[in-house]
Amino acid sequence: MNVVMIGAGYVGLVSGACFAEFGANVTCLDVDAEKIEALRGGRIPIYEPGLDDLVHRNAQAGRLCFSTEFADAVGDADLVFIAVGTPTRRGDGHADLKYVYAAATQVAAHLKGYTLIVDKSTVPVGTAREVKRVIREANPQADFDVASNPEFLREGSAINDFMRPDRVVLGVENPRAEALLRELYRPLYRIEAPILVTDLESAELTKYAANAFLATKISFINEVALLCEQVGADVHAVARGMGLDGRIGKKFLHPGPGYGGSCFPKDTLALIRMAHDAGTPLRIVEAVVAVNTSQKERMVEKITEALGGSVKGKKVAVLGLTFKPETDDMRDAPALTILPALLERGAHIRAHDPVGMDEARKELPAAIEYADTIDDAVADADGIVLMTEWNQYRGLDLERLKSLMRGNVFVDLRNVYERPTMQAHGFAYSCVGR
Ligand SMILES: NC(=O)c1ccc[n+]([C@@H]2O[C@H](COP(=O)([O-])OP(=O)(O)OC[C@H]3O[C@@H](n4cnc5c(N)ncnc54)[C@H](O)[C@@H]3O)[C@@H](O)[C@H]2O)c1
Repeated sequence: MNVVMIGAGYVGLVSGACFAEFGANVTCLDVDAEKIEALRGGRIPIYEPGLDDLVHRNAQAGRLCFSTEFADAVGDADLVFIAVGTPTRRGDGHADLKYVYAAATQVAAHLKGYTLIVDKSTVPVGTAREVKRVIREANPQADFDVASNPEFLREGSAINDFMRPDRVVLGVENPRAEALLRELYRPLYRIEAPILVTDLESAELTKYAANAFLATKISFINEVALLCEQVGADVHAVARGMGLDGRIGKKFLHPGPGYGGSCFPKDTLALIRMAHDAGTPLRIVEAVVAVNTSQKERMVEKITEALGGSVKGKKVAVLGLTFKPETDDMRDAPALTILPALLERGAHIRAHDPVGMDEARKELPAAIEYADTIDDAVADADGIVLMTEWNQYRGLDLERLKSLMRGNVFVDLRNVYERPTMQAHGFAYSCVGR
């Protein structure tokens, strides 16, 4: 099968490489010539565990190639996936679909023979039909169908998620489109991954509803954590007691500095706009977003309080910048809100992240210093803020850290450590919800 993946970002590159691993001939197309050049030269532009190997293996086997030229690849394709970005549109919270429609227009001109055009990007209900209209208008003779195949992979474990998905959702309009997609995903039948076949609209909405529900769990436990702090309860005990109920489940009940990343923030906003436009506001999701915004603000207060009520002139070592471990993605990371607020209050920040510092430099104010090692970050610091729970930060040499610092404050925004241990090492320890 010939597959074209439009957009060689986190989703396009991982999906393209995985389809190649399934045995398809895949061409990843991107308008970013630098990215394509890097990929052709064997350099992977993002950090994702295992991706390097997967891409090299499949490129060497001749099943995966990279290009900026739409003509040949699209003409030969059985399936064309659109996996471009759908960021928040400036000003109104809607998903910005300009990249999706630009990709559809570029594809239209080069279609030859029957082709299935599949939205893999997260897109609002109605987008697949609009893609169909755009292509039809640009190329009235084209023989094609559209489908929706939203992606549920998580950065940091993207390859495993793609290869062993909880489910694959296929939104289609006819049996021909379904058969093509089933054929492409056939290697997953062996592991009995559930394949859900729906209409276009249900597939599109499933992705948003799933992300909004996960964000709801996070905001819910963050609010419960706040209540725990007020009433003297331990949020870990509460979350465990809740999560062992099979109807609730243990996952996504970890309090922290608020959700971030390339999906939850923009997808919750887009769902709110979509629901509003449909005349059925989703009040729960609106509350989830509001709670998440205030959670990040609360973390600034928490750090300030821990440092004695003012951070002015204080040296703060920040461990972890990315929105979660095992990725270099800084999009909407809580650090992007929390660190500028601390700087504004007069803090001096020295930050460390195992892989995210290059991306962070592009997004954060220039006043932030970056340290190559954990030791460097914490040297002479008044306090440490553990922002992202990278494995490197889970087993810190506490004795050593304490001896390098000039203060003893440790603010653990991921609840990695236990208070008694930290106190035994002389730290003034605070965390979230206990
Ligand atoms: N990142 C995730 O974890 C994740 C998970 C599930 C779903 N999604 C969804 O997948 C989509 C892509 O997300 P991402 O994180 O991979 O984005 P990304 O920004 O990493 O990559 C998008 C790529 O598309 C390219 N592009 C833009 N317009 C193009 C065009 N007309 N032709 C060819 N290439 C074009 C860009 O240059 C970029 O390389 C989004 O809708 C996102 O919501 C992302």
